[in-house]
Amino acid sequence: MRVDVVTIFPAYFDALDVSLLGKARERGLLVVVVHDLRDFTHDRHRTVDDTPYGGGAGMVMRPEPWGEALDHVLATGPDGPGPVESPRLVVPSPAGRPFTQALAEELAAEPWLVLACGRYEGIDQRVVDEARDRMRVDEVSLGDYVLNGGEVAALAIVEAVGRLVPGVVGNSGSLADESHVAGLLEAPSFTKPPVWREWPVPDVLVSGNHGAIARWRRDASLRRTARVRPDLVERLDPAACDAADLVQLAALGWLPTPGAHPAGFTYDPTAVAD
Ligand code: ADE
Repeated sequence: MRVDVVTIFPAYFDALDVSLLGKARERGLLVVVVHDLRDFTHDRHRTVDDTPYGGGAGMVMRPEPWGEALDHVLATGPDGPGPVESPRLVVPSPAGRPFTQALAEELAAEPWLVLACGRYEGIDQRVVDEARDRMRVDEVSLGDYVLNGGEVAALAIVEAVGRLVPGVVGNSGSLADESHVAGLLEAPSFTKPPVWREWPVPDVLVSGNHGAIARWRRDASLRRTARVRPDLVERLDPAACDAADLVQLAALGWLPTPGAHPAGFTYDPTAVAD
């Protein structure tokens, strides 16, 4: 996969030299090219921002350098063989659609992504609207809070997407069991020693009984999700739950919602087991 990043702070992306993604880049699984937006300005001060039309606080990123930067990225094309298709443009923004594991999986199937990191009050909206004429564009939010710019969000997106590119994570089994993959949070994990500061690990995990371990993990996952992310339980599909899941969920007060489309669960405090 090729990823082009446009930013006024290329140094943020030095973090992609290390760890799993650094290795993936060395192995050519991931090609990351970082472009300095200021290289596409033509004034002495390399100005990228200006005051907002209509007034208001803060500055807005000027469209001209962005237009030239995106023209340049598009003209370079992705590395490697195959037809040159237009990339998918991702614009981190607190006003974007939520970034989820499902979107990370979708983006991981793309051969070429471009990330456009805005600063200040964001990028002149015409840049995004014009880009939509020549590529698929997603404005994407990391969460309901405001960062100083798109760089940290872009790093998170590259990491979440990059680790899903085949070969980047050595043990692909570890991708299957993690939080958010099946709409649930992952069960807690433990390692040696078996007792630490008088805290033993759950007996079942040292029992060697693989069936019992799988059931314990599934129940722990359901309990943790119900406790901290009831919104995820509401959206679980009862058809994807086995009988033991339904028993565990009922004991936590969650019953399949009668006649709901799409199907889900509803909390009923009278169902909670003592
Ligand atoms: N830029 C500023 N805040 C952001 C957020 N929450 N998500 C993505 N990009 C952002």
